[in-house]
Amino acid sequence: MADRAMEDRTADRFDVSFSVPLVHRVRFTRDALGSDANELAALLLRDEDVLSNEDGGERESRATPKAQVWVDASLADGVPGLTDRLDELLADWDAAGLAEPAGSFRLVGGEACKNDPKHVDRILAAINDADLDRRSYLIVIGGGAVLDAVGYAAAIAHRGVRLIRLPSTTLAQGDSGVGVKNAVNRFQKKNWQGTFAAPWAVVNDARLLETLPDRDFRAGFSECVKVSLLKSPADFADLCERAGDIKQRAFDAYWPALKASCLWHLKHITAGGDPFEALEARPLDFGHWSAHRLEPLSGYVVRHGEAVGLGVALDVLYSAAVHGLSTADADRALDCLAALGLPLWHPLLGDADRLMQGLEEFRQHLGGRLTVTLLNGVGAPLNVHEIDEPAMRQALRSLQAAAKRRGATWEAFFQDLGQPVPAPRQAAGARSLGLGESRNPARSKGRSVVPPGSLVQ
Ligand SMILES: NC(=O)c1ccc[n+]([C@@H]2O[C@H](COP(=O)([O-])OP(=O)(O)OC[C@H]3O[C@@H](n4cnc5c(N)ncnc54)[C@H](O)[C@@H]3O)[C@@H](O)[C@H]2O)c1
Ligand SMILES: [Zn+2]
Repeated sequence: MADRAMEDRTADRFDVSFSVPLVHRVRFTRDALGSDANELAALLLRDEDVLSNEDGGERESRATPKAQVWVDASLADGVPGLTDRLDELLADWDAAGLAEPAGSFRLVGGEACKNDPKHVDRILAAINDADLDRRSYLIVIGGGAVLDAVGYAAAIAHRGVRLIRLPSTTLAQGDSGVGVKNAVNRFQKKNWQGTFAAPWAVVNDARLLETLPDRDFRAGFSECVKVSLLKSPADFADLCERAGDIKQRAFDAYWPALKASCLWHLKHITAGGDPFEALEARPLDFGHWSAHRLEPLSGYVVRHGEAVGLGVALDVLYSAAVHGLSTADADRALDCLAALGLPLWHPLLGDADRLMQGLEEFRQHLGGRLTVTLLNGVGAPLNVHEIDEPAMRQALRSLQAAAKRRGATWEAFFQDLGQPVPAPRQAAGARSLGLGESRNPARSKGRSVVPPGSLVQ
């Protein structure tokens, strides 16, 4: 096809499609920095690094690659001896001729590392100082934010240094770590500056989760509920059954749940046909339109995983009211989220007007028509381009009542965690940290966000 197009040199227009073969390498380990360290080492050299030489034998195509490690500071603080262990690993790889050590570094965890450009600059400087090249390895261990910041630096240094991610939160292991996106926050907008870039490998390691606080541990499972509702009645049933044990952090319960979620995301990326999100629909963003709104409205006191749990609960009730999801399945989803120890209600959901502006933000974020994924049934998603605003308001009222009945309010959530309810923070205002505030936020109460009656599946 390409040849034919190029041969016709009389033409002035050449539209030649091409694809780049990529391999998504995902590993599941119990102790990647200890007894399973061989899994990590095995990722440092791949077949494509070996070329045939003239006499038919094989030789390495280049000098030993370099390896540099970045670790989430909160994780490093929580695991005594972790940084020493990383240096030991680098020395082991050096001794085995696998990789030349290029330093290990700590990076402040959470949104802080994405908010200030100095962190990405520091990572880039370290990559430059150590003379890493495109066949070098940047190994990052941390929560989704640290993965995002280091991943972004890895993607732009030399137009791409090999990135090995070791996610250390449930959210990153079950969802974002296996993704092909990275970003930092700019112009006070979340994830404004970033790229699509497939990582060299992802290693989901159980041991890394040991120091994760309960609040962060629970948060990631809202994404597991989300993806199972979209993709698999069987996985959803498993989650419902194991939710109580997952909350108690029983390995046999939580590990298969995280693995299933990660594999669904992997399948979506590798076989879903739109890994770089060129199309309107974002099928895995079920429950996210309100979550993306709630996070900045709360000044980021509500974490992403918590916001997704609330958003999933809301869209499940709306789906039951408007799109044929059975009320029994909607109840199961709410029961499941509550049994996982996640809140079903936050006081900010009481302000329906402000919440509903999230639909316009979501449309802007998608860059086209409003497209929201909802549920016809468990495992039966549908895309709609209209939201019936009075029905959504009713779903909010139903959610508040359902949360009360289940003792799953925001306050009860913290009581259960044994922590004080965090003080509300100033909402991140217009154009400040959210996906980009609606430019046309004034919508009168009771009016549909978009005219009713034009549902598209
Ligand atoms: N790239 C993507 O596709 C994608 C998708 C979803 C979310 N994200 C991003 O991920 C980020 C959220 O990630 P997250 O939910 O993993 O939280 P996080 O990275 O903000 O981490 C939460 C807190 O836990 C700490 N932490 C991490 N691992 C720990 C461990 N094992 N023990 C103790 N403390 C630990 C962190 O330092 C941080 O303080 C957001 O910035 C979001 O934008 C990215
Ligand atoms: Zn999410």
